[in-house]
Amino acid sequence: MSAIIEPCESRTNTTPEFPMGWFSVARSHELQVGEAKRVQAFDRELALYRTRSGKPQIQDAFCPHLGAHMGVNGRVVGETLRCPFHGWRFDAEGACVEIPYCDEIPERARVRTWHCEEANGEVYIWFHPQGLAPKWPLPELRELGDPQWTPPRYAEFEVPAHIQDIAENSCDPVHFQYVHGQQDVPPSEVTVDEDGRHLHLHLDAKNAAVPNKLHSLVESPGLATVRTSYGPGAEMVVYNSAQPIDRNRTLLRWTLTVRREIEDLAGDEVMNGIIAGIQDDYPIWANKVHKHKPIFCREDKTLVLYRKWVRQFYVDVRELA
Ligand code: FES
Ligand SMILES: [Fe+2]
Repeated sequence: MSAIIEPCESRTNTTPEFPMGWFSVARSHELQVGEAKRVQAFDRELALYRTRSGKPQIQDAFCPHLGAHMGVNGRVVGETLRCPFHGWRFDAEGACVEIPYCDEIPERARVRTWHCEEANGEVYIWFHPQGLAPKWPLPELRELGDPQWTPPRYAEFEVPAHIQDIAENSCDPVHFQYVHGQQDVPPSEVTVDEDGRHLHLHLDAKNAAVPNKLHSLVESPGLATVRTSYGPGAEMVVYNSAQPIDRNRTLLRWTLTVRREIEDLAGDEVMNGIIAGIQDDYPIWANKVHKHKPIFCREDKTLVLYRKWVRQFYVDVRELA
């Protein structure tokens, strides 16, 4: 099997697999101690819970016994999750530690667990298609909790697109004119770090109503930090972290914070502006296919760069075989 499916013009089978990386699955405040919930990500059903000691854990949803979904009415018991159907309990490593009506636990009574971490007010899963350990640390948003920055505002939006195609959008200067109706698209530059890991987008909106400079740091598909400066001390950060629900649906989570100096100037309207922008893209995303091998023209340099950069996040099983 190959990680990238061969191209064919059907919406159901041209989209790529899921890239490796960190992906948010919940806001921290949405997961209370002792709570278990259902998460859909990577075309899988998962069970997310917070243990009594406060640690978030994530595992495959379906119980190895008779297949109940442990994220739906599963019960947190200490550091374990108890299946709602017959009470089998599983620990953080996925081992069954108790069957209430039997003193012998079958060796194969296990569920797959996923590496889970919490930062930036979010709970993240490390996804790797072969289950390998994290290859890079989770980025920390240094502005959160800093008294010079406002408490975060949140917004969520589900988009009908593959996670790769969403990040591609910000490396696509031409579409701002056609899709977003911007006549005067500020000059942009897309670059990749020397080591190839991060992608950077720089915009210099000199002629905007409020002139500003934007820098977007893309860690991986689905994780980007956008810093906008309107002058010394007048700064804004929008952190975008995504949950790939399946190949054609992605949940975007934004976290916005601004310097106290501009607290009264930038707030809800910034969030509303972002959501309005996404709504312009919506009909394109809802109806397009993912082009595995697009025909690019000479001026599509930033798109070509993006496609080269994004390949590192996919595991091509053919290469490993
Ligand atoms: S299905 Fe989970 S304990 Fe029976
Ligand atoms: Fe767009």
